[in-house]
Amino acid sequence: MLVTDIDGATASAAAAGGAEKRAYVKQIFSEIAPRYDLLNHVLSLNIDRRWRRKAIARLGVERDTSGRYLDLCTGTLDVAQQISMLGSFRGLVIGADFAEPMLKAGLGKVEGKSVAPVAADALQLPLASGQLAGAIVAFGIRNVAGLDASLREVFRVLAPGARFVILEFSTPRWPLLRFLYQTYFHHVLPLIGRLVSGHRSAYTYLPRSVANFPVEEELADEMKRAGFANVDWTSLSFGVAAIHVGERPINSLRPK
Ligand SMILES: C[S@@+](CC[C@H](N)C(=O)[O-])C[C@H]1O[C@@H](n2cnc3c(N)ncnc32)[C@H](O)[C@@H]1O
Repeated sequence: MLVTDIDGATASAAAAGGAEKRAYVKQIFSEIAPRYDLLNHVLSLNIDRRWRRKAIARLGVERDTSGRYLDLCTGTLDVAQQISMLGSFRGLVIGADFAEPMLKAGLGKVEGKSVAPVAADALQLPLASGQLAGAIVAFGIRNVAGLDASLREVFRVLAPGARFVILEFSTPRWPLLRFLYQTYFHHVLPLIGRLVSGHRSAYTYLPRSVANFPVEEELADEMKRAGFANVDWTSLSFGVAAIHVGERPINSLRPK
């Protein structure tokens, strides 16, 4: 069945982490891939670019400029491309995503750059344990069916001392801002998303998935439970998004 035939109830069940989430997510991103970049920048009023830059800065690439880094749920390879273009960068960025049309839509951005796009599931990365100099995920981990398992999988592939940076939407706490944000996110955004992408449910799924995602403190706790140390987080744009950072402890020599 095409996602475009899936009704709002299925989008809600998938957003809440139901059994259908993995297939649903893979399908909607495969279908919206050609319009993804355009919609991203329009719907976020281009603020997403600034958020990504801030998140990349937290990765600390200067600590190991020739290492291998993972851009998880890389989509159309924006973050991978930006890391590879950092002045001092001499390493490799692995851009992993399970929706191949998303990777294909971004291939032009990384031509001639030190980026390796890989079709892979975040829960089963085709990477050796304990090797990566760092990992980042932008607006991706909320979509993975199994937050705890995906955190543990990233932990497994990081070298001791390496950082994991998560950029993800959140929900503002101030009542007036929260009201305006929710009005935009739940009513205006799905309408524009549907008109531009021609996709019936993808942009209904988005606000519902954010509503079902842990708030900042809870995500920080999940990261700690998965083994990460020195976990901290920063709110962006009055709580519309947040950057979380954690490290695989230096003394965690054996994969968890
Ligand atoms: C909202 S997009 C984010 C893309 C990109 N990181 C960005 O900043 O624009 C979410 C991406 O996560 C990917 N994704 C979701 N679940 C995944 C999984 N289990 N394994 C790999 N990729 C996954 C989707 O295919 C999609 O490309």
